[in-house]
Order: sequence, then structure tokens, then C-alpha cells
Amino acid sequence: MDLKDHIRGIPDFPKPGILFYDISTLLRHASAWRTAMARLAETIAPHKPDVLAGIESRGFLVAAPLALELGLGFVMLRKPRKLPGLTIGLNYALEYGTDRIEMQADAVQKGQRVVVLDDLLATGGTMSAGISLLRQAGAVVPCAACLIELTFLKGRDRLDVPFEALVAYDS
Ligand code: PRP
Ligand code: MG
Repeated sequence: MDLKDHIRGIPDFPKPGILFYDISTLLRHASAWRTAMARLAETIAPHKPDVLAGIESRGFLVAAPLALELGLGFVMLRKPRKLPGLTIGLNYALEYGTDRIEMQADAVQKGQRVVVLDDLLATGGTMSAGISLLRQAGAVVPCAACLIELTFLKGRDRLDVPFEALVAYDS
């Protein structure tokens, strides 16, 4: 199955000039979604994760089913002020302005191998922040993975871990 058949490009969203790769059509298609999860499971299993982390919000759609598939726990990396209890966070730069992700301070144990997942890698800023935050919490991050990589933005060059994606777009 070619997963690209189930991902559509929507022009001029969320801003003019941006081609948005929409995974809604993949999620709606039971066998395409299952295929994507099975392929990602196969890709990340050799990195021997103890736990999976997903980046809010579309990263949850990838990491949570994958954690179930692999029999692992799932940790949320969330947008600011969403998590109860003691949290740690990291600010990161966007093209214009800054963003922040947070996690619960006790979400991972020191030395646990945590693979971090998102739906899509663009500039790599979000994923890079996720990796740094997990390390701050004491995790070892053996790899990161997404469904989609926008290779023309060279996001993987910002990551200091092996990166895996199921499909790539070069424009
Ligand atoms: C999108 C996408 C990734 C991130 C990639 O999330 O889901 O998380 O941007 O961009 P980057 O590689 O340039 O950092 P978005 O902030 O649109 O939010 P959402 O997942 O809640 O829809
Ligand atoms: Mg996102």
C-alpha cells in the first residue's frame, strides 16, 4: 500500500502559499491507518523503547496507538498549562515568535528509553524541543519518528538522534 494515496495536500492552509499535508484521510481509512501503525511499529522496535512519547496534538494520534501495538506506556508532551501536577517545560523558537511544550516531571524514569513521535516533521523545531525536554526529564531518546517528513525543510538536520519517517515530500 502506498500511504501517499491516503494523505492529501491542501493548498493555502493555514496561510496562503502553504501546502498542508492532511492525515485526516489516512485516519479515516481503517486499513491505511493500521498499515501506517504497523510500519512505524516495525521501524521503531529495533530501537528498543521502554515508553513512547507523543507531541500534542497530532502526535498523540500516532504515539498512543503505536504504544498499544508495542505493549508500551505512552507519555504526553503537551501545549502549555494543560498538565496537572509538577511539570517541566521548554520554550522553542518558531519562524515568528516562540512556542512551549511541557510534560509531567515524573512521567519518565531516569535512563528509560523513550522514542518520540509526531505526525509530521517540518522545520524540526517541535521534535527537537521534544527530544530536549525528554532528556531534561532523564530519558534516553534512541530515535524519533513521524508519518511524514517535509525533506525540503531539512528538519532532520536539527535532530541529534536517528530519525525515521514513513513518507517524504520534497516540495
Ligand atoms: C505541526 C505538526 C508538528 C509540527 C511540525 O503541529 O503536527 O507537530 O507542526 O512543525 P516543525 O517541524 O516546523 O516544528 P501544529 O503546531 O500545527 O499543531 P497540532 O499538532 O496541534 O495540529
Ligand atoms: Mg503538531
